[in-house]
Amino acid sequence: MQTMIITPNPSDPEVKILSNEFKNQGYNVQYFIPSTIKVNIGFQSKFEKRFESLTPRAALVRGFGAAATQRIFFRLDILRAIEEHNVKLINSRESLEIASDKFLTSVSLEKHKIPTPKTIICEEPHMALEAYEELGNDCVLKPLYGSKGIGITRLNDKGFAENVIYSLGQLNEVFYLQEFIEHYNRDIRILVLGDKVVAGMYRVGDSWKTNLYTGAKPEPLEITDELENLAIKAAKAVKTEIAGVDIVESEKGLLVLEVNSIPGFIGLQKVTEVNIAKEIISYFLESAKI
Ligand SMILES: Nc1ncnc2c1ncn2[C@@H]1O[C@H](COP(=O)(O)OP(=O)(O)O)[C@@H](O)[C@H]1O
Ligand SMILES: [Mg+2]
Repeated sequence: MQTMIITPNPSDPEVKILSNEFKNQGYNVQYFIPSTIKVNIGFQSKFEKRFESLTPRAALVRGFGAAATQRIFFRLDILRAIEEHNVKLINSRESLEIASDKFLTSVSLEKHKIPTPKTIICEEPHMALEAYEELGNDCVLKPLYGSKGIGITRLNDKGFAENVIYSLGQLNEVFYLQEFIEHYNRDIRILVLGDKVVAGMYRVGDSWKTNLYTGAKPEPLEITDELENLAIKAAKAVKTEIAGVDIVESEKGLLVLEVNSIPGFIGLQKVTEVNIAKEIISYFLESAKI
């Protein structure tokens, strides 16, 4: 049987682990690399031909690659074109679009009454500077599209905030500013598959940025009902079936920072008994049938 992984890089370690799991379950994996796709319109060889042999008619999305804005739009459009040909994407194009955009994620979380830090998004540098003050002169500035903590800066000094904001203003950046939440260098990652929480961990760092990529360490976590419910609600709010939900424990209670639609799992695997790749592939095959 034939299945498909959409990825910018088939030799990515996690893609390899997932491919092996597909093989264990009797599947041959075909890779779809968005940046290398040539779409022909009005020719004999049709774009949709490459999806003909997929059973079930679905593809697992593990990324579409970092790129300039126009290419990001094109690659999202490619995902849409795939869905137009009745191939189920997990996660769906719509959910990838929401979850990979911190602004749309925040809007969706608020709409579903999911607690999240106070956030201000704007284009004008003078508004961003006002936002810095409104957020208590201590906030984090995040790229709208980003992951692994890359490009996130804490602003808690007026002079520094002015410099950063006016410099980014020159580059026509959009400002996404969020109140700084004291979490004592620890946050939580929960992996959700459909209606279920599969695993979770603490991420403990040496500084306020607790991405594993920046050197934080995974530690075991006991998943409470409150965490479970919150993570499932957050995943639903951004319409992801497979989700890595980032949560901080604040004085005000649990707050959702973001939902990752292509969650990494190698770090999480170190602190859980569950075979995560197996859970993801089994979930994918089950959900793809529907
Ligand atoms: N509002 C905040 N207050 C304090 N720390 C934060 C805040 N937002 C993010 N962080 C820290 O930065 C990390 C990365 O932020 P996140 O929003 O998850 O973006 P990314 O997509 O880059 O992972 C979080 O895991 C957390 O440790
Ligand atoms: Mg994160």
